[in-house]
Amino acid sequence: MAESANSIHNSGQKLAGKVAIITGGASGIGEETARVFADHGARMVVIADIQDDLGNQVAASIGSHRCSYVHCDVTDEEQVKNLVDATVNAYGQLDVMFSNAGILSPSDQTILDLDLSQFDRLFAVNARGMAACVKHAARSMAALGVRGSIVCTGSVSASRGAPQRTDYVMSKHAVKGLVRCASAQLGAHGIRVNCVSPSGLATPLTRAALASMETPEEVQQHYAQSSRLKGVVLTPKFVADAVLFLASSDSQFVTGHDLVVDGCFARA
Ligand SMILES: NC(=O)c1ccc[n+]([C@@H]2O[C@H](COP(=O)([O-])OP(=O)(O)OC[C@H]3O[C@@H](n4cnc5c(N)ncnc54)[C@H](O)[C@@H]3O)[C@@H](O)[C@H]2O)c1
Repeated sequence: MAESANSIHNSGQKLAGKVAIITGGASGIGEETARVFADHGARMVVIADIQDDLGNQVAASIGSHRCSYVHCDVTDEEQVKNLVDATVNAYGQLDVMFSNAGILSPSDQTILDLDLSQFDRLFAVNARGMAACVKHAARSMAALGVRGSIVCTGSVSASRGAPQRTDYVMSKHAVKGLVRCASAQLGAHGIRVNCVSPSGLATPLTRAALASMETPEEVQQHYAQSSRLKGVVLTPKFVADAVLFLASSDSQFVTGHDLVVDGCFARA
């Protein structure tokens, strides 16, 4: 009886005592995941982003005892290393890295009109930045003997082509390759590496890209057309819940996995 009451209590605290970093945590999926991690008992959630005002506001709204903000541009390896070192110095260890920061290029990036400056910028964030975060999180976990969990944000674009956004699609394929390599190499240290791959959802990223649509509901409805699962639209909370699963011991034998959160995506 006491045991079942205890397990009910613990089911709401899947990250009790854990220290987590979330890159791109000032907005969208990252922000929602910071809230979910804090609700699930994380000892400290460190939001790492380049939007300082927003990041500080999100951290303050969660509570300074549970969440802090650090400026970190993931394109700069030194900043990523400092982020991980500062987190470990302040809170003892790093248990979870949610490497989530990502961008879209301003133009359509079809192959015939591929702008390679935009391509380089996007790869610096979505692929190189992702690798730097996995590298430094893993080095810290391995050095301290932490059986940690690293989760990267992929996309349905990691598994298929598209009529535009060539650079983005390529970068998300790279994330999947990163997860495959890192999970294979880090298993010996007890470190798990997975990715979560959402289909389209309304966040500041997609609202900016679909600027002709005025409300988040219009953006949601636009993406809902590509989902075979009807009667529900994808929100950041659904993605955050999938990240929580991968971050927590609920998934303790899951590594190298791409967890799609896409309502059975079918491109219209
Ligand atoms: N929204 C979607 O439809 C969708 C679908 C699939 C995958 N994704 C992926 O989800 C992730 C989060 O996107 P989102 O939709 O929440 O967008 P978002 O724009 O709301 O959040 C992304 C965050 O990343 C931050 N960021 C950008 N460049 C950075 C850098 N160099 N260093 C640190 N932080 C940086 C931004 O400031 C922002 O706060 C991205 O990797 C994106 O590719 C989004």
